[in-house]
Amino acid sequence: MTKFLSLLLMVMMMACQTSPSEQSSESIDSASVEPLELAAVQYKGMMENVSPGEFPRSFENGELITSGSGWWCSGFYPGSLIYLFENTGDSVFWDEAMVVMDSLKKEQYNTATHDLGFMMYCPYGNANRLAPSAEYDEILLNSAKSLSTRFSPVTGCIRSWDSDPEDFLVIIDNMMNLELLFWATKHTGDSSFYDIAVTHANTTIENHFREDNSSWHVLNYNPETGEVQEKKTAQGLADDSAWARGQVWGLYGYTVTFRETGDSVYLEQAGKIAEFVLNHPNLPADKVPVWDFNAPADAPRDASAAAILASALLELDRYLPEKNYAATADEILNSLESGYMAEPGTNGNFIIEHCVGHLPAGSEVDVPLSYADYYFIESLMRQKCGLALAN
Ligand code: GLY
Repeated sequence: MTKFLSLLLMVMMMACQTSPSEQSSESIDSASVEPLELAAVQYKGMMENVSPGEFPRSFENGELITSGSGWWCSGFYPGSLIYLFENTGDSVFWDEAMVVMDSLKKEQYNTATHDLGFMMYCPYGNANRLAPSAEYDEILLNSAKSLSTRFSPVTGCIRSWDSDPEDFLVIIDNMMNLELLFWATKHTGDSSFYDIAVTHANTTIENHFREDNSSWHVLNYNPETGEVQEKKTAQGLADDSAWARGQVWGLYGYTVTFRETGDSVYLEQAGKIAEFVLNHPNLPADKVPVWDFNAPADAPRDASAAAILASALLELDRYLPEKNYAATADEILNSLESGYMAEPGTNGNFIIEHCVGHLPAGSEVDVPLSYADYYFIESLMRQKCGLALAN
C-alpha cells in the first residue's frame, strides 16, 4: 500500500471527517455554509493563485501578498491545508501541502529566526501526526536544534530578534515556539530541548508580566549579565499597553507548557492571562479584541487575536473545566463566523477578515492574515474532534 493510501485510510477512520466539498465559491454563501466547508472552498481557490515557492500571507488592494519560506508565517498555509485534508479526506489539500512544504523544508537549518515553531511545527507537526515519517522527524529535530542555538544560559531565554551585540531581545510571541522543543525531547529522549523550553518559560514568567497579568511585548536583556535593561513594545500601542495578539500568544504558550510539563505554575499563568483578557473592560461584547487593549474602542479589531484566543481556550478548558472556557471559545467562534468570515471567492480566498499585523508600522491593518485562518481552522477542528496533538 502506498504511503498516501495508508494515510487516507487512517484519516477516514477518524471520527471527525466530513465529506469532501464539491461546492464551488459561486454555489455557496457564508451565511448558509459550515465554516470548515467554506474554508475548504476558499483554500481550493487560493491554491490556484499560489506559485511554487510562494507562501500566502495576506490580501491587500486586490492583490494576494505572499512571502518566501523564511518569513515567520510560512508554515501557516501548509498547516491549514493539512487540517483541511484531515477534515475532508480530499487529497488535493494534502498534495498542495506537500508541494509547499518542499519549498519550506530548507528552513530547518535557519538559525537566524526564533519563529521555527510557527514555521515548522504547524505544518510538519501536523503532517507527522497524520502520517508519521522519519523524514518529518528529521526535519522537526533539525528545526529544534536550530532554535536551540538561540538560547542563552545567561539570560535564560531564546533570543527572538537579532540586534546590536549589547542587546538581547525577547518577545512574548516566543512562547509559541516551545512546543517544537518539547516534541524534540519526547522524540529523542534528549532533555536539553525540554530544559531550554522550561527555562525560557520560567524567565518569561519572572520578567515579562505586569501586576495585572498583562505582558510587555519586547524585553531587552543584558546579554552579559542577564539583567532586564528595557521593557517596551514594537507592535503595540505603547510600551505600557497590552497588545492584543501578544496577550493571546502568551496564553496559548503557557497552556501548551502546562500540557507538556504537568507543572501547575504554567497552568496558573495561563489562567491569569485568560482572566486578564476575558475580564478586560475594553474587550468588545463579541469578544473579538481591538488590536491593542489600550486602543480606543473604535480602533481596528484583530480577528487573528480572537482565533488564537479561541484555540487556546479550547485546550485550557480541559485543564480548568470549572471555568467553562470552551463555552467562551464557542462564543468567540460564533462571532468570527457571523461577523468576520468572508463571502466565498472574496478576501483573496482567505477565510477571516479584519486582522491587524503591525499597526505602528502601518503594515497589514484590517486585512486577512494566514495565521488568523490557521488558528480559526484549528479551533474549528478542536471544537469538532477535540485536541489533535502530534507526538
Ligand atoms: N510574531 C509576530 C506577530 O504576532 O505579529
